[in-house]
Amino acid sequence: MACPKLFLSCLLLQLMFLFLVPEVAHGQGLKVGFYQKTCPNAEAIVKKVIGQVMSVAPSLSGPLLRMHFHDCFVRGCEGSILLNSSTNQAEKDAPPNLSLRGYQVIDRVKTALEKACPGTVSCADVLAIVARDVVVATGALSYDVETGRRDGNVSSLNEALNNLVPPNANIITLKADFAMRGLSVKDLVVLSGGHTLGTSHCSSFSDRLYNFTGKGDTDPKLDSNYIARLKLKCKPNDQTTLVEMDPGSVRTFDIKYFDLIPKRRGLFTSDAALLDDSETKAYIDLQIKTGGSTFFKDFGVSMVNMGRIGVLIGTAGEVRKVCAKVN
Ligand code: HEM
Repeated sequence: MACPKLFLSCLLLQLMFLFLVPEVAHGQGLKVGFYQKTCPNAEAIVKKVIGQVMSVAPSLSGPLLRMHFHDCFVRGCEGSILLNSSTNQAEKDAPPNLSLRGYQVIDRVKTALEKACPGTVSCADVLAIVARDVVVATGALSYDVETGRRDGNVSSLNEALNNLVPPNANIITLKADFAMRGLSVKDLVVLSGGHTLGTSHCSSFSDRLYNFTGKGDTDPKLDSNYIARLKLKCKPNDQTTLVEMDPGSVRTFDIKYFDLIPKRRGLFTSDAALLDDSETKAYIDLQIKTGGSTFFKDFGVSMVNMGRIGVLIGTAGEVRKVCAKVN
């Protein structure tokens, strides 16, 4: 807004505008290359560390992708998943987050960034960049990550419990949970494709094997041969065993997850639920028919959409020096 005449009143208007701009935003204020001037090597530094980590611990690709998702769905993408419990219990100690791994990788990335550009790159942005780099390391198409997020200073166990989508969610809940965060039905099906990577604890789906309706029954929406195979691995009440979600290619980002769904071999109720909506089902059918013609590109688009949820920008929050605690 230029101020040619009536300079003072125009300046006042500009100031008012500045104060009215919301600091919790859905993506506004983020941009590709936010650190171009302040930390030009930021993304290269993250990529280098992730390259080193993936070469020795490739199984961390799944957990590190999931960490960004769990950050964004609770209070938005503002790094609250990384805070340690202090006077209150933090998100990280909520049961659905106890299976997250890889915090030490985030710390390693952050230490390298602090060395190069102290106090500049937020932990929330580290999560977003790391998520991109791990999927690319496993075979996904690269995409530009928007940056400029700031870190929040609140993290609550109860908020994690109330906001993380449970694996037994049906399609109505899933669509509503995504919609309330500005994500579309397409984002839901595309991002569910993240289950091409990684493993799950038996406890996340054992109700489908042993006690689906409280009568010791199995889930009719899960293939009976698959149930038999899963039962060999997962005994009732097993809290520790890990099962591959996309068997045989858990470290490769591919479209095999979508092949499993119509075969009724999606591990969670939430995976199987993608057959209960015409749009999500049509998307899966198309990817199978065309060998994933659009999935790889779609995934980057949906990750950018997810990365915009409830971000803190401008002067909101802070840039943490250490990701596990507020400054
Ligand atoms: C749509 C709703 C979703 C539900 C209900 C859900 C649920 C789950 C559950 C229960 C696990 C297994 C945890 C365990 O027992 O160890 C899991 C793992 C995983 N999820 Fe999701 N998820 C959803 C969406 C997403 C999204 C959007 C992403 C990322 C784009 C994602 C990425 C992952 C990955 C990579 C793993 C494997 C983690 C590992 O290897 O440790 N999920 N998810």
